[in-house]
Order: sequence, then structure tokens, then C-alpha cells
Amino acid sequence: MRTLVTGGAGYVGSVSVRALLDAGHEVVVLDSLERGRREAVDGRAELVVGDVGDRDAVREALCCCDAVLHCAGYIDVAESVRSPDIYFENNARKPLVLLSQMREAGIDAIVFSSTAAVYGEPELTPIDEDAPLRPVNPYGESKKAFEAALGEASQEWGLRAVVLRYFNVAGAWPDGSLGEAHDPETHLIPRVLHALRDGIREFEVYGHDYPTPDGTCVRDYIHVCDLADAHRAGLERLMRGGSGCICNLGSGAGYTNLQVVAMCGQVTGQEIRVRFGPRRAGDPAVLVASWERARRELGWRARRSDLATIVRDAWAWERGGRFGQRDGMRRGG
Ligand SMILES: NC(=O)c1ccc[n+]([C@@H]2O[C@H](COP(=O)([O-])OP(=O)(O)OC[C@H]3O[C@@H](n4cnc5c(N)ncnc54)[C@H](O)[C@@H]3O)[C@@H](O)[C@H]2O)c1
Repeated sequence: MRTLVTGGAGYVGSVSVRALLDAGHEVVVLDSLERGRREAVDGRAELVVGDVGDRDAVREALCCCDAVLHCAGYIDVAESVRSPDIYFENNARKPLVLLSQMREAGIDAIVFSSTAAVYGEPELTPIDEDAPLRPVNPYGESKKAFEAALGEASQEWGLRAVVLRYFNVAGAWPDGSLGEAHDPETHLIPRVLHALRDGIREFEVYGHDYPTPDGTCVRDYIHVCDLADAHRAGLERLMRGGSGCICNLGSGAGYTNLQVVAMCGQVTGQEIRVRFGPRRAGDPAVLVASWERARRELGWRARRSDLATIVRDAWAWERGGRFGQRDGMRRGG
């Protein structure tokens, strides 16, 4: 099976590319490299440098493919609030070019990287896939808009789409050779690990008056390799002729921010003090996934998503130098 992975030079995409190759798939990567890194792309994959909105690049990349894993996108919530237009352009409008080229090439199978941000502030937890979609930021809105476009394409021309709504993705390839390198980094685990790596002994946690066991927000972390397993399961379901579906991807376990910081201290063997800052606007108290449907529809379950394993793997990546960025290539984060 030959799969086009868009965004395959980014965090989630690069890990998924390697996992697909290891499972015997052929892989083509389409990435603009705007926010990804060439060195993250496994040498066994073919790399087309280009944009998801560029018809010719998409056509070239789709050649001889059976299915698409669409990971390309912008992911920074704060940036989406400052510049909503570029989020709708990149996450919702440009991928319409991908869909039209798939239709032209007769490729009717796609797995899409969506997000728990489509739910917004949940009424019930754990969140299941029938919960109302009420995003509270343009990032979530842009992902919701593309989910709707997939639904329309399913109706119009029979596209089969497996939509995967990730909760908090974290961790790294277990030997630390591939991992998260966002710039700026906004995710909790890498930010705490960066502080520890750089000898900073105090870390600010946003808000300590939430209705949770220790007053800090509760989140559901999913290991990026578990995500890669789900991508593969979704692609293989479609290749067997299966229908599309929508599934949450989370571990079903919630950890408070303080538990996460403590685990980072434990894994690294270093101490870090917590300072409490104000709440961040739009941060729900608790976001935990119901993953029953992913188990039922994809035969998937999380295997590496306990917090200790996630942090241990992420630390291996940070200590390993993140493609040598610590030696001068790092742009920030
Ligand atoms: N990382 C998370 O915690 C998380 C959580 C929920 C959902 N997601 C979704 O997963 C996907 C991947 O996230 P990530 O953390 O790997 O992000 P990332 O920024 O590390 O990777 C995204 C990749 O897409 C590429 N890209 C962006 N726009 C493109 C375009 N128009 N054409 C071609 N390439 C383009 C970038 O260059 C980059 O390599 C995103 O769609 C994101 O919305 C991520």
C-alpha cells in the first residue's frame, strides 16, 4: 500500500511516516517545510516539497497512491486567535485542493488529523464523539470546517474519511530519535522539559483554582506512537474497503498540570518549583477522551500512553539534541 502523508516533516507526521514504513507501507511525504524539518523525514520515504494548496505539487505527490494521511496544518491556538485568516486558509481552504486532486486521481480514502479543540468547553467528561462541536478558538473552528468538507465530499463523491480527534499528543520515538520540535513550543511536557534541560528551576502553571483535585487543569495525554498505530489502523480499515468514521484518540486518563510537572521532575531526577500564574482564557478545567469508539471501530488501544512512559520518551528526545538543534540550529522553543 502506498500512502501520501501530508505534513510528514512535522512532529506527528514524521513519527507516523516511520511507523508506516516499518509496517511495510510505501510512503510519499508532501510538506512545505515551513514548520517541519527535512531531517525528520525518514530516508525510505519519498519527499515532495510543496504546499497542500498547490495543485501541481499535490498531483505529483498523489501519483500511484492508494490513500492519504493528512497531518499538514497549523497548530498554535494563540497564533490562531491573533491571525484567524491564515488558519482558515491553511487548515480548511488549502486542503480542498488535496480533496479535489484525490477525486481526480480516483483516491477515495483519507485519514485526517483533527483535534479535541473541535469540542470547545465540554458539558460532559469523558468526551465522546457525539458531544456538540463548539470550538472556542479559530484553530478548532478551522479543523471543524475541514471535517465538514470531508462530510460533504463523502456525500458528493463517496470519499471515505477516518477523522481522528487527538487529545494532547506527547512523547517521542522511544529511542529519542524523533520528537516534538514546535517553534514556539506551547505544549506543557516539552516546555517543562526544556526548562529542566536549560537549568531553569521554576515553572509557571496557569491557574490553580479549577474544580479539579489539585486546582490545576486536567488533560488526557496520548503518546505519539499510539497515534501512529491508530493512523495505520485507520488506513488499513479503508484499504479493506471499510467505511469512514470519527474517533477520539486519547488514553482516557486525566493528569493535572501539577502531576505532569512532578513526573517531569521524577523522570529527569531534577527538582522544579511551580509558580502559579493567572488562568489562560479559554482553558477548560478538564479534557479527557472517551476512546471506546476507537477501540470498537479501529481495534485500537493506547499502549505507551501512561504518563511515565510519555515523559521518559520525550526526555530521551530532548537529551538527544533534537536533530542537533541544541548545538545552534534551534530557532526557539
Ligand atoms: N501536536 C498536537 O498536540 C496535536 C493535537 C491535536 C491535533 N493535532 C494535529 O496534528 C497535525 C500535526 O500536528 P504536529 O504537531 O505534527 O504539527 P507540526 O507543526 O509539527 O507539523 C505540521 C507539518 O505540516 C506542514 N505544513 C503546514 N501547512 C502545510 C501546507 N499548507 N502544505 C504542506 N505542508 C504544510 C509543516 O511544514 C509541518 O511540517 C496538525 O494537523 C494538528 O492540527 C496535533
